[in-house]
Amino acid sequence: MQEAQKIQTEALAQIEAANDLSALENIRVAVLGKKGAITEGMKTLGSLAPDQRKEAGATWNAVKDAVASAIESREVVLKRAALAEKLKTETIDISLPVKPETKGAVHPISQAMEELLAIFSDMGFALAEGPDIEDDFHNFTALNFPPGHPAREMHDTFYLPDAADATKRLLRTHTSTVQIRAMQEQKPPLKLICMGRTYRSDYDMTHTPMFHQMEGLVIDTETNMGHLKGCLMDFVRSYFNIPDLKVRFRPSFFPFTEPSAEMDIGCSRKGGELKLGQGDDWLEILGCGMVHPNVLKNCGIDPEKYQGFAFGMGVERVAMLKYGIPDLRTFFESDLRWLKHYGFSVFN
Ligand code: PHE
Repeated sequence: MQEAQKIQTEALAQIEAANDLSALENIRVAVLGKKGAITEGMKTLGSLAPDQRKEAGATWNAVKDAVASAIESREVVLKRAALAEKLKTETIDISLPVKPETKGAVHPISQAMEELLAIFSDMGFALAEGPDIEDDFHNFTALNFPPGHPAREMHDTFYLPDAADATKRLLRTHTSTVQIRAMQEQKPPLKLICMGRTYRSDYDMTHTPMFHQMEGLVIDTETNMGHLKGCLMDFVRSYFNIPDLKVRFRPSFFPFTEPSAEMDIGCSRKGGELKLGQGDDWLEILGCGMVHPNVLKNCGIDPEKYQGFAFGMGVERVAMLKYGIPDLRTFFESDLRWLKHYGFSVFN
């Protein structure tokens, strides 16, 4: 059994001398590993006579325990030393300023909505809000899209499972839903805008399944098409910051307005470059019209007494034009480099 004692003495000396964790691990393998000295020694027990085996077995077990516990305590010491060393080299100065490259920026959508809100607030419009998840009535029926009307097909609607009371639910395809809610809840005269997310099943350079709209509604006893034109002319001139920006109105169709129009602004496309406010070309910017009497009736407003105008535009579209952003899809890719380039300072 001198063999076992010798292995123990040597191993304990080596363990004591080991000054890092990998040296300690090498010792553990050499002594206690599958082919380690103690493991090999214990394999010889089988060839001994039973009474000798008992004594030798106890010795080897004692040696094994002594070495294992020596390794364990040495490991604690070495781990503590390694941690202390690591902490010494990895100290951080928490008084340093936050890294400038992780700074955020205001997204162009938020910026555009702030600007739109500022312009229309100055003109006396109030902000109204409504839910993204809507029902068929507020999104279509109340807006004079009767069930089965072909204009419904143009909206590529995302339908949701019917509500418990069998109402058809959907993701709103336009913010006109908010105007219906406002007309149902408030008494005219009304002068409000709304903006927010809208959803249509479409995806390419100029369409994303979620986008933003801004709409306006004015209802009063004498509101007419002249008011609509003046209001929208003031708006585009102020938004694009071009005081003499030319505009024109083209006849169009929306089920909820009659007459309906699309407004274009003057631009030039010479040399493939779009410049607003110069040249003889036109660029479509928004849809508008006089609120259809059926819509007023659907919301409990007397069309013999009240009339009004409405308009609607894509927030991304006016943001792209103003800030020179070429691809709509990039708005929603959450690429920090893009945001750094097109984003705005909070102080702006
Ligand atoms: N809601 C219309 C759309 O999504 C836009 C619009 C609003 C047009 C109000 C006219 C008047 O296309």
